[in-house]
Amino acid sequence: MNKLGWGIAGCGWVARDYVGPAMQASANGRIVALHDPDPASLQRAAALFGAPAHAGLDAFLATPGLQAVYVAAPNHVHRPLVEAAARAGLPVLCEKPMATTLADAKAMVDACAAAGVLYATAFYQRFHAAHRTLAAMVTEGRLGTVTAIRIVYACWLPADWAGDGASQDNWRIDPRRAGGGALMDLAPHGLDLSSYLLNEGLTDIAAIGQARVHRYGVEDGALLMARSRSGVMVQMHVAYNCPETLPRRRLEVVGTAGMAVATDTMGQTPGGTLDFIDAATGVTEPVPVPGADRSPFMSQVEAFADAVLGQGSFPFTGTHDLHVMDLVLRAQAQAKPPGPLLPIPPGEGRGEGALAADRGTGSADSARSLVGRDRAPRPPHPNPLPEGEGAGPRL
Ligand SMILES: NC(=O)c1ccc[n+]([C@@H]2O[C@H](COP(=O)([O-])OP(=O)(O)OC[C@H]3O[C@@H](n4cnc5c(N)ncnc54)[C@H](O)[C@@H]3O)[C@@H](O)[C@H]2O)c1
Repeated sequence: MNKLGWGIAGCGWVARDYVGPAMQASANGRIVALHDPDPASLQRAAALFGAPAHAGLDAFLATPGLQAVYVAAPNHVHRPLVEAAARAGLPVLCEKPMATTLADAKAMVDACAAAGVLYATAFYQRFHAAHRTLAAMVTEGRLGTVTAIRIVYACWLPADWAGDGASQDNWRIDPRRAGGGALMDLAPHGLDLSSYLLNEGLTDIAAIGQARVHRYGVEDGALLMARSRSGVMVQMHVAYNCPETLPRRRLEVVGTAGMAVATDTMGQTPGGTLDFIDAATGVTEPVPVPGADRSPFMSQVEAFADAVLGQGSFPFTGTHDLHVMDLVLRAQAQAKPPGPLLPIPPGEGRGEGALAADRGTGSADSARSLVGRDRAPRPPHPNPLPEGEGAGPRL
């Protein structure tokens, strides 16, 4: 079979540990070129994949046999890399989030359209075998009328986090390079996956964010809610502040005839479980998942390579990707309220607020604990809330 010649721009964690190996093992692709300005990343990937390695972008794009580029660099450089690939006439599979602004994301889609090459965002979770099975269950009506999707997708990301445990510059907590925190990083997957499962777009979106545990400049948690075109409610909790020993990857699709529960399917690895709870009996049964052991990244790169090689069409378009990006940015704008909230009345919650107010540590300070606010000095980690706020409502 004719194999697509892939080039990887950005040879860090996701490229090295997941997508590169999936390309090498795929039926219709192979890696022919690598690019990374960081010598250590480049050498490590070159040793792993045995492909020509270039610190310079132009030399990379001129590699003989290069037919498509996978962009896996920090979010703020997606745009220049995609535009350069498009100018070189090369189709691009670009990591999520597309970019840090909608203008950059649009420019990327426009550049690929002008060059007549395929652009796609790497929404690999829709290629996970359990999610494909779940989508078929929805289509076949096994869940009845779908009413809601509920997602928990969370991890633990301290300031010194690195994908492979090695020490490195953690760009994910830099708003300039990442564009945001847990919401920007994790919500694109759930939003794409929801529209894939429902086979329709999401229209309305709202969100709140928190900066609750980690002391860095992006949100470490967010709650999103959205509505699909036909009225399905989508709810999502994304977080960087969830210990990874806790349950943290769960997808529920609720319908009038039953509910599907996918556990540990949202993430880089294949596997996890898929169960169906019958609404008539309340009985839970496991759902067999064909191809359960297959890497979702492999299915993704094979679909992209098929499309480039003229063996099929790619299942979603840049217009879809822009829509998801728009939803992410709208949610992010809401998760960062523009100004201070009104003080919470004393006596709310357990009544401790009244005591705190009496002691002069009242709830006006609580308004500063959210992302995007004026960052007044905060109490020391790990208890960033003013004393006495307790479990009462803070928003
Ligand atoms: N789909 C997923 O499961 C998943 C998982 C992790 C990361 N990602 C996305 O992949 C991208 C990379 O994330 P990561 O965790 O691999 O990051 P990383 O920090 O481990 O690797 C990024 C690499 O890009 C390189 N780089 C920096 N500037 C560059 C430039 N101008 N041109 C080319 N390379 C450059 C860095 O030197 C580094 O080697 C991000 O957009 C991230 O959101 C997706």
